[in-house]
Amino acid sequence: MIPLTEEPDYRLFCEERLGYPYPLFDLLRAEDPVHWCAPMNLWLVTGYDDCFNGLRDDRFSSDRTDMYVQALPDEMRERVQPLLDHVSKWIQLTDDPVHTRLRKLVNVAFTPKMIRSLIPRIEELVDGLLDEIKPGDSCDLITQFCQPLPATVICEMLGIPVEERDAFRVMTERVMHFSTAGGPNLKNHAEDAADALGGLIFMFERLVAERRKSPREDLLSAFVQAEADGERLSNEELYAMCVFVFLAGHETTTNGIASGVMALMQHPDQFDALKANVDGLVRGTVEESLRYESPVTRAVRKARADMVFGGKTIKAGQLVVFLLGAADRDPAQFPEPDTFDITRTPNRHVAFGFGAHFCLGAVLARMEMEIAFRALVRRLPNVKLTDETLAWKPTMGIRALVKLPVVTG
Ligand code: HEM
Repeated sequence: MIPLTEEPDYRLFCEERLGYPYPLFDLLRAEDPVHWCAPMNLWLVTGYDDCFNGLRDDRFSSDRTDMYVQALPDEMRERVQPLLDHVSKWIQLTDDPVHTRLRKLVNVAFTPKMIRSLIPRIEELVDGLLDEIKPGDSCDLITQFCQPLPATVICEMLGIPVEERDAFRVMTERVMHFSTAGGPNLKNHAEDAADALGGLIFMFERLVAERRKSPREDLLSAFVQAEADGERLSNEELYAMCVFVFLAGHETTTNGIASGVMALMQHPDQFDALKANVDGLVRGTVEESLRYESPVTRAVRKARADMVFGGKTIKAGQLVVFLLGAADRDPAQFPEPDTFDITRTPNRHVAFGFGAHFCLGAVLARMEMEIAFRALVRRLPNVKLTDETLAWKPTMGIRALVKLPVVTG
């Protein structure tokens, strides 16, 4: 590999870096913490303070739907307009006053009390999944455990019927491939995503009509009924909320659990400490796992007007990528940041973002991770990584292991 300092620009997005991006994050932070990345046409922010302050800075906008529009050829734009309209309603891509209104409406449906009422069901799901893994088994813990748990939780919460969950997951993933594709790749995914969205809307039209007639104990019913300041969600906003909550909530949590379990297996002293004092250390394990391998690596914003930020002049309309994974390894905020330490205090990581768009599902994600780690200690105390080399998905937006091959001991 070329020494970092000899590279003409920081090749942040090339695959060989993705396995372990932290040396590059360190270099960026030390040499040019607010860096203009010419090949990507965007700014990269790596310092903790800059990320923390930038995420609550009103001079940045979250609305970047025009980025999708501009990247598509004219003749395609019209065909995929319903997709663009849908994506523009994702809460994460909205600014005030729309954002505050949407957030108020979903907060009504997403209270900590409601989330806590899910604990017994999540424990039951965890036990059911671990029952399938026998002592001495070799398996991929992601497919057997880390992936099905959050996906089932979010589908049950939303109220997606069991027999439609696979189709729902596949269709939302096709929409996600569009939303996470870089500029030139967008057009390759647009028509497929528009097609998948058609299927999703068809499904939601029926489910929403059912809930309007007879509400149930699920998020879909809560979203249908949610009212704040005399306002409700329109049907289009409701569909966008369901698709986005599913997308935002399942893969992120899968990766949070998987990276935490990986780190525990790679640091037997920490795993032993957790086993010896689960009640005292499980919350610290959750927070340290989120900091150490932040599952969402970046939060993207757009400059509303010309501005000076971190000593650099940012032009109106330019994209700014706050690298949460880099901020969470900033030595100025976290002493010995590359050490996995489940007793770390304070641990004010930004894995859930910060400011107005702070993760809506943070309470749920933390709870699922805690229940998963508790069960790991209880049910698989001797679990170990196999000799297989660990590989990460070749994408910059999320930090995701491809597989977590283990022997259960
Ligand atoms: C470990 C798991 C998770 C991580 C690391 C995570 C991370 C994040 C981050 C960094 C943001 C802010 C993005 C930004 O500022 O642009 C965010 C927003 C969001 N997250 Fe999560 N998330 C997780 C789990 C969940 C879950 C379980 C749900 C829902 C069930 C969820 C729903 C959302 C929503 C709706 C937003 C947008 C909030 C807004 O724009 O106001 N997330 N998440």
